[in-house]
Amino acid sequence: MCGIMGYIGKGNAIPVIVDGLARLEYRGYDSAGIAVYRPDNDASEAYLQVTKKKGRLADMVDALGDAPASQLGIGHTRWATHGVPSDKNAHPHTDCSGNIALIHNGIIENYAPLRKQLMLEGHDFVSETDTEVMVHLIEKYYEDSLEEAVRKALGAVYGSFAIVVISAQEPDKIIAAKKASPMIVGLGEGENYLASDIPAILGRTKKVYIIEDNEFVILTADSVTISDFEGNPVEKEIFEVTWDLELAEKGGFEHFMLKEIHEQPEAIRKTIAGRINDGMVDFADLDFNDVLKKINKIFIVACGTAYHAGLVGRLAIEKLAGIPVETDIASEFRYRKVLWQPDDLMIVISQSGETADTLAALREAKSHGIKVLAVTNVVGSAVAREADRVIYTHAGPEIAVASTKAYSTQLVVMYLLAIYMANIRQSYDQDKLKGLTHEMCYLDTMVEQVLKENDALKALAGKYRDVQDTFFLGRGLDYAVAMEGALKLKEISYVHAEAYAAGELKHGPLALIHQDVPVLALITQDKLVDKSMSNIKEVKARGAVVIAICKENLQESCQECDEQILLPRVNPLLAPIISVVPLQVFSYYMALYRGADVDKPRNLAKSVTVE
Ligand code: F6R
Repeated sequence: MCGIMGYIGKGNAIPVIVDGLARLEYRGYDSAGIAVYRPDNDASEAYLQVTKKKGRLADMVDALGDAPASQLGIGHTRWATHGVPSDKNAHPHTDCSGNIALIHNGIIENYAPLRKQLMLEGHDFVSETDTEVMVHLIEKYYEDSLEEAVRKALGAVYGSFAIVVISAQEPDKIIAAKKASPMIVGLGEGENYLASDIPAILGRTKKVYIIEDNEFVILTADSVTISDFEGNPVEKEIFEVTWDLELAEKGGFEHFMLKEIHEQPEAIRKTIAGRINDGMVDFADLDFNDVLKKINKIFIVACGTAYHAGLVGRLAIEKLAGIPVETDIASEFRYRKVLWQPDDLMIVISQSGETADTLAALREAKSHGIKVLAVTNVVGSAVAREADRVIYTHAGPEIAVASTKAYSTQLVVMYLLAIYMANIRQSYDQDKLKGLTHEMCYLDTMVEQVLKENDALKALAGKYRDVQDTFFLGRGLDYAVAMEGALKLKEISYVHAEAYAAGELKHGPLALIHQDVPVLALITQDKLVDKSMSNIKEVKARGAVVIAICKENLQESCQECDEQILLPRVNPLLAPIISVVPLQVFSYYMALYRGADVDKPRNLAKSVTVE
């Protein structure tokens, strides 16, 4: 996620901002920029000096050179979402006059029509970002008050944002506003700070205001005024930071993995943002309808967790869009003879966008003239560059090696795509598609609800911490999630975990079941519950303890299971996004209890660029 740092006060803003951004570097970024105020002097009028560079923060600092001190400035590290990493797309963005500079985290969902309108009104755009519309809107509304102009601009946009704005006309203040992207104010003596996260200001102050959604901040060197977007004052308590740098980087969580598990509701919101219009999924801006309408067959190709997302994608696309789909492991796909047909489509899924096997499979498809659609988290990654079209998951940087929020957002994209294709191909009942689209908007709150089971899952992990072997069972979509659950457990806790299609167990692996092998059973598919229960009886008869991850409404049928983790009622098709969460949390605590290095499991790397 991008980093924000702003400063106003008696000191020099430049080193404070650079140092703050450096403390946010661990989150990953692809470009950096700074805007500082230069007061008028004999040679020139007051202006904002803006320096932006693709690459490392140090590259930006080099470009800035020996800049004179300034008492006002804002800085940003960008992790690309709209537009590739480049100097032009880096923040801060400025208005046409260069008098207003703005940095932004989040996504302005309605940026496309706003941009069109502002261009018609004569505004010059220089970047491909969604952010730039915001600064031109502020310019449009600016008369003599930056505060008023920002308030008016906020009324015209929707989406998620933490924005910070300065103007050469009003150098005594920084204006900021927040909705669904983090922001804090650091309180100093004769100086104040604005940042996206606490690590940025650690070492300068321990007194912080945590800015909440729909809050508007006016920062001067000596004061902080907080109101809502309408201008009604907001009273705030000062939060005393007791965290050290390491804890602060993890947002107060002990590990990045747990932090990222808890970021899933927000990540899901961001993935959906801007992709639903009038109650229906809208990917018209992909400009790919002609291909999507006539697809013969889809090959989904990916590795590891992304492959598991592809398995869910397959079932969703087949059910809704009625297109035959094969989901393959990239390292296998590359070496088999694929019977390509004209109008086949390959979908590659990759968090990093750099996985060697996935990239090779993509190239193989392209060499046969097959169109490729990439689903990735990293803007400008190899997969994004080489595919014909790309859908970004917008999960934000994932630091823990074990993938969590990347998986759930990959699932979101697969569902959105399945619904979209079904709609344009008219392969599924329109009202039902609208119903599903509507339900997708509640997935974030359902995940929040499941995350409240944290303590129960921790206790469960404590109880089974010493097991050697486990089985994960499910049917249909539950089987796909069982595979992801088993992968999470083995990769971070080093407990042997096998995922099996529940109905397949009796064809061999049942021989491995005994009293010391706990079985985690996924039960979210209403129509398959009786069949799954028969399989659960089989393992119980061999002495296994069964932990059911089941939907509330199916609880009655799961009475015979030894433990139950209940999930909210969710459409069976969408259940994987919800049911994977307890498995992630359970694996996390198993790893913790067993003393494993949760964020950096042995033998594994975050980005697998070797074949
Ligand atoms: C497991 C995990 C890996 C990745 C796999 C593919 O938690 O993260 O299995 O999913 O290495 O990586 P990407 O998605 O970057 O292609």
